[in-house]
Amino acid sequence: MPLFSKTQKTAVDFAHLPRHVAIIMDGNGRWAKAKGMPRTAGHAAGAENFRTIATYCKDIGIEYLTVYAFSTENWKRPVEEVSTIMDLLRKYLLEAIEKMERDRVKMRFFGDLSPLPEELRKLCLRTEEISTHYEGCQVNICLNYGGRDEILRAARSFAARCAAGEQTPEELTEEVFSQGLWSAGIPDPDLMIRPGGEERVSNFLLWQSAYAEYYFTKVNWPDFSKEELRKALSAYQSRQRRYGGI
Ligand code: IPE
Ligand code: IPE
Ligand code: MG
Repeated sequence: MPLFSKTQKTAVDFAHLPRHVAIIMDGNGRWAKAKGMPRTAGHAAGAENFRTIATYCKDIGIEYLTVYAFSTENWKRPVEEVSTIMDLLRKYLLEAIEKMERDRVKMRFFGDLSPLPEELRKLCLRTEEISTHYEGCQVNICLNYGGRDEILRAARSFAARCAAGEQTPEELTEEVFSQGLWSAGIPDPDLMIRPGGEERVSNFLLWQSAYAEYYFTKVNWPDFSKEELRKALSAYQSRQRRYGGI
């Protein structure tokens, strides 16, 4: 049933939401620059907005939310910016762990956590561990994540099993290959949202997005409100997915 209210200008059919929404949380730096603030202030505002949007997704019944927080290429940024982002993540997780009992949001991390600062890495593992006790909305945070890196790792691990004589190349199917990805067991994203004005994939969920619907908006991530999400959901609901058929 379409739903309108004073704050909800955009009609969304909440009974037919995408199961899995993925977001490239982009535009933090430009948001800050436009306000005459340092880029790091944009990351802080972006982290705050993530909290708002993740909670909203859980409240309306989205099953899976996958967000791009830090890519394998983002290490190219100045050291101070990278360390601010890592510090914000640490702060965010410390707070999230406290609220998990109440929020019941399940968290997982996609990406190689080993190069992260030790305390952050441990917090990620602790968050995942606590999450195993919860059902409900699953939020996947892509951290030191790259789509190509993910595919290479899956290919390498299958090749290793072949070399060990445990499997044969003929046994490799799309399903088997998917099991080697960080997203193993999770349905592919239905809707991929990129705020910030860029219209590119930037190495995000390359395998999983084969039939995802894309939604681009110029709104920067810190300003991507619940209403902006409803616009994306509404646009998604107006699309016809054909998967190569007619
Ligand atoms: C996204 O915002 C956050 C990360 C990539 C970590 P940006 O920092 O890329 O913001 P812009 O694109 O420079 O505005
Ligand atoms: C993609 O944004 C990565 C994240 C949002 C974490 P970037 O800002 O890194 O992407 P490019 O460099 O504009 O392609
Ligand atoms: Mg960017």
